[in-house]
Amino acid sequence: MSSQKNDLPSFRRHRRLRASGTLRDLVRETEVNINDLILPMFAQEGLDGKEEIASMPGVYHFGLDALRREVDDLVELGIPGVILFGIPAEKDDQSSSAYAEQGIVQQAIRALRRDHPELLIMTDVCLCQYNPAGHCGIVRNGQIVNDDSLALIAETALSHAAAGADIVAPSDMMDGRVAAIRQRLDGHGFENVSILSYAVKYASAFYGPFREAAHSAPAFGDRRTYQMDPANAREALREASSDVEEGADMLMVKPALSYLDITRRIRERFDLPLATYNVSAEYSMVKAAALKGWIDERAIVEEVLTSFKRAGADIILTYHAMDFARWQKEQAKR
Ligand code: PBG
Repeated sequence: MSSQKNDLPSFRRHRRLRASGTLRDLVRETEVNINDLILPMFAQEGLDGKEEIASMPGVYHFGLDALRREVDDLVELGIPGVILFGIPAEKDDQSSSAYAEQGIVQQAIRALRRDHPELLIMTDVCLCQYNPAGHCGIVRNGQIVNDDSLALIAETALSHAAAGADIVAPSDMMDGRVAAIRQRLDGHGFENVSILSYAVKYASAFYGPFREAAHSAPAFGDRRTYQMDPANAREALREASSDVEEGADMLMVKPALSYLDITRRIRERFDLPLATYNVSAEYSMVKAAALKGWIDERAIVEEVLTSFKRAGADIILTYHAMDFARWQKEQAKR
């Protein structure tokens, strides 16, 4: 092109649009918003105060009162919601504390609902924290049985809805659970409670710190007969497709960081709102490196969360939510 000096070949000047901060802000394609974030929280039965989880610095087990105080701060920061996990005092083969009216999650939902009518209360629906085998369904003769687990999972979701949850999120990976939950909720007048399905949940080593936190590591075997093989992508489309047919309102991909390609594929194939779960080890790896002074935590977290939006997620479940919200507030003040 004649406009080029020094006989340079013709090329496009991509750097033009990066010349200043305001210009970069103008042309930015994706942005993480506090409104997109959901904080996972652990409510522990019988705990007084809060206890930091060793493998997840900055993440705590909360007793009920401490949970309420933390959620006051979360609301103050503008984070729209939480996903609750329960750590019960007792476990049994029927996982009965998962759906007990006075279960820890049910109590937490009622307390938070009273404190904050507008808060989005999401619950993880699963059995693994509530039975001694530490599996997500009922165990019989060393097998995790699918169909008989559905009633308990649906019962758990119903008990969360009855306590005041807005959104139930089944994470057990039994087949048919979205249909079972929808039927149970509708049968009890909870047709307005949404289902966020962990539609695509891989059998991942990235759940390690969570299992320590939730005391939910399997007592025998692993979760590979129900969670997905990390090597499979087409299978994710089949899983999501079933959950859409069964009545899921929103889909989720989990874990997040090593599965951005899956998030992209689900986004392209389905129209439902899409969430991704930035899981425990993804968080702990960042925290550990930050504590060692090896990385710039804020920059890393912002880049990580941005990658989820760029891949196509609408909603991000992340343990970084409070930090991110605080950084945004600080920046707004400057
Ligand atoms: C319960 C459940 C797990 C996680 C969310 N729900 C653990 C698992 O499936 O083993 C993992 C969350 C995290 O690692 O942050 N089934």
